[in-house]
Amino acid sequence: MTNYRKGNPLGTHRVVSPKGVLPQPADILDNDERIYDNEVAIDVQTLNIDSASFTEIERRAGGDVEKIKEIMMDIVEKTGKHKNPWTGSGGMLIGTVKEIGPNYKGELKVGDKIATLVSLSLTPLVIDEILEIRQEIDQVDIKGTAILFESGIYSILPDDIPQNLALSVLDVAGAPAQTAKIVKPGDTVVVLGGGGKSGMLCCVQAKKEAGINGKVICVDGFDASIERAKSVDAADEYIVGNATDAVGLFNQISELTGGALADVVINVVNIPNTEMASIMLCKDNGMVYFFSMASDFTKAALGAEGVGKDINMLVGNGYTKGHANVALQVLRENEKIRELFAKLYA
Ligand SMILES: NC(=O)c1ccc[n+]([C@@H]2O[C@H](COP(=O)([O-])OP(=O)(O)OC[C@H]3O[C@@H](n4cnc5c(N)ncnc54)[C@H](OP(=O)(O)O)[C@@H]3O)[C@@H](O)[C@H]2O)c1
Repeated sequence: MTNYRKGNPLGTHRVVSPKGVLPQPADILDNDERIYDNEVAIDVQTLNIDSASFTEIERRAGGDVEKIKEIMMDIVEKTGKHKNPWTGSGGMLIGTVKEIGPNYKGELKVGDKIATLVSLSLTPLVIDEILEIRQEIDQVDIKGTAILFESGIYSILPDDIPQNLALSVLDVAGAPAQTAKIVKPGDTVVVLGGGGKSGMLCCVQAKKEAGINGKVICVDGFDASIERAKSVDAADEYIVGNATDAVGLFNQISELTGGALADVVINVVNIPNTEMASIMLCKDNGMVYFFSMASDFTKAALGAEGVGKDINMLVGNGYTKGHANVALQVLRENEKIRELFAKLYA
């Protein structure tokens, strides 16, 4: 019988350096495939690389697939996980449970197909081989093994939604679920990057919460993304606007709202330097939700102070209770968005 080593529920036993920190901020994790007594080993099928991370890797690789593979392999070989060194972000994965430690407390069984809902930036990972990269949807099929800690959250993949579709939606599950918590009936909501994956989910969820007396404004930088959002009836109003151009966008939203601005601004873009626009579009006492991993705390805090905005700002915690169910429910309730997402991501 295997002698299992005793693990910590949070996975601190896997931290190689610096010692004493948790797995997410750690620089290097031990990705030894032999599990500890409370861990789960997963046969990985597909990685869903966080959009900000994949965009940066693609940029550095000049779009070349072989170079993207090289960068990804290099990140994992050096650090034992897929935490992008430039954006700090991860993503998540789907795979099949292949081994469970005897002291793991949870419902999983060997053979279960799951999506991990903890970031790749803290998940010990070995990539044996990269099989296929689907650049347009940030998904990478691999042969490899990942480790789920005892504290790691996951979702059993649903039967009624194709796996790759569920993977891409669960990756951003926190966004529509937080939207459901912060948008109130009658609110005016601006979604920056509203034509993207999490953007459309947020728009649709915001419309549901804001109701008949509310207004959801979808902003995206490109005509094609706006047309995509329109095709699924994601919002009430659509604007082609540049989220890095704070003043220009302020003028557009100011005109559209008769100077009232937004009660809630949701930032789901995948590029940096969009903090100021998010802040400027929000009315006093309103809320800005920074889901984008390219958001910068210093820029947001000093930016709000600089323009004298008394607003609440929410860091885009990728987790909120029941987030997987909320995100999948958006697909179940909206035939058009489900069809579009199936075409784009399944
Ligand atoms: N907080 C968390 O836990 C968490 C988890 C997962 C992901 N994220 C982050 O969430 C963000 C969105 O992810 P996603 O998967 O939804 O990405 P996505 O599908 O790539 O959506 C991003 C959207 O932003 C748009 N955009 C790019 N530049 C713009 C500009 N200058 N002005 C206005 N819109 C612009 C993009 O337009 P085009 O497509 O036309 O370029 C796209 O529609 C990323 O930053 C990702 O890292 C956070």
